[in-house]
Amino acid sequence: MNLRRREEARQPVSKSLAINKRRLLGDLNAISRIGLGDHGSVTRLVFSIKELRSRQLLIHLMTQAGLKVHVDRIGNIFGRLNGANPNAPAVLAGSHLDSVVHGGKFDGPVGVIGALEAVRTLKENKVALPCPVEVVCFVGEESSRFGFSTLGSSLLAGQVRMQDLTNAVDAHGTKLEDVLSSMGVYRDTLASLKRDPDSVKAYLELHIEQGPVLEAKKKKIGIVTAIAAPTRLRVVFTGQADHSGTTPMEMRKDALVAAALLIAYIEEACRKYSKMENGRVVGTVGAMKIEPGVINAIPGKAELSVDIRSISAKAKQRVARLVESRAREIAAKRKISLEILPIRSEEPVALDESLLPLIEGICKEKNIPYEIMPSGAGHDAMQMAKITRAGMIFVPSKKGISHSPLEWTAPEEICLGAQILLETMLRVANEQG
Ligand code: GLV
Ligand code: MN
Ligand code: MN
Repeated sequence: MNLRRREEARQPVSKSLAINKRRLLGDLNAISRIGLGDHGSVTRLVFSIKELRSRQLLIHLMTQAGLKVHVDRIGNIFGRLNGANPNAPAVLAGSHLDSVVHGGKFDGPVGVIGALEAVRTLKENKVALPCPVEVVCFVGEESSRFGFSTLGSSLLAGQVRMQDLTNAVDAHGTKLEDVLSSMGVYRDTLASLKRDPDSVKAYLELHIEQGPVLEAKKKKIGIVTAIAAPTRLRVVFTGQADHSGTTPMEMRKDALVAAALLIAYIEEACRKYSKMENGRVVGTVGAMKIEPGVINAIPGKAELSVDIRSISAKAKQRVARLVESRAREIAAKRKISLEILPIRSEEPVALDESLLPLIEGICKEKNIPYEIMPSGAGHDAMQMAKITRAGMIFVPSKKGISHSPLEWTAPEEICLGAQILLETMLRVANEQG
């Protein structure tokens, strides 16, 4: 980090520039009512009607705020406020509006509406900006539908290769590639979605922590150093469906038993490597399809989704290789067939080193307790970091719970996060050079 940036990180924060908390919380609430289900859960799977409606509402809010709105072919939304030089690289801030199945209200929308509120505040207060600022909503950050995460930001950052899409299929057999072509996005046009890195000055993302650290340490803000990235596989065991009453135990080719053994092994391998490596390794089988899936038939086919993550690329690759070889051993021993389909494997990403002290400086000036920490969850920032300086601000998650209707962040914590985002955006916009 150069000295000038260090100096700027110390400049006092404008006292008068404050976000409109009521408006921020009102819009957040309006978004969370789209896709609302039982027990306050939210379901807005990528490219579903509900998710589309949430994006339409955002376009409305951006237009109402007087921002220049642009939607790219895949559905990424940009709301721009120009500065003195409209051709200067823009400071981007945002997140996503899609959700997991039966998720919470905060994962994603806090960052999108928080950024919108920050930009509205700049506009209303007629703050002189040297460069444009943009609110961005990325499409398809969650992998819940296709097993493919950070779709919109990956495309924007030029990170999607043709072969990445091949194995991305939803639970109903719909291929991601087919959904994209129905929107006029084809393999040979993927590259056209890439944004010119020279048009971006930095990317900032406000997000809920989705873990227990801030609450446990009584900190209000997290400043993110690095993001763990997933390696994802689809593993398919194919045995023989047969009668559950007549087939002797030693004559069975039960695909689900093979899957169960592999699931238990994934847990064992991740626990072992978490202890050995400094980097935590986590592994999850979050979805499984069994055929024929009835009480009186031996499962002939079991298809599992495997998600392995770590901040350490080495540890993650090691565990992924062990899982693959154990799957082969299980299949061979049980004389059933096995297919391993890689979905995507990504490198953990370090966030920008100059943005971290800048955010830290703001927290210190305001006497806000903060924590410098890595992120175990994936975020659009990990793709944006490949084309620009990327920084993330976390706000606490009650009991660390996320991807659940119990996800909760107190309104005042969300507002504080949005205020820090606003001040960070302003300082980054004003950085020289
Ligand atoms: C996004 O929430 C993820 O799965 O990490
Ligand atoms: Mn999520
Ligand atoms: Mn998220």
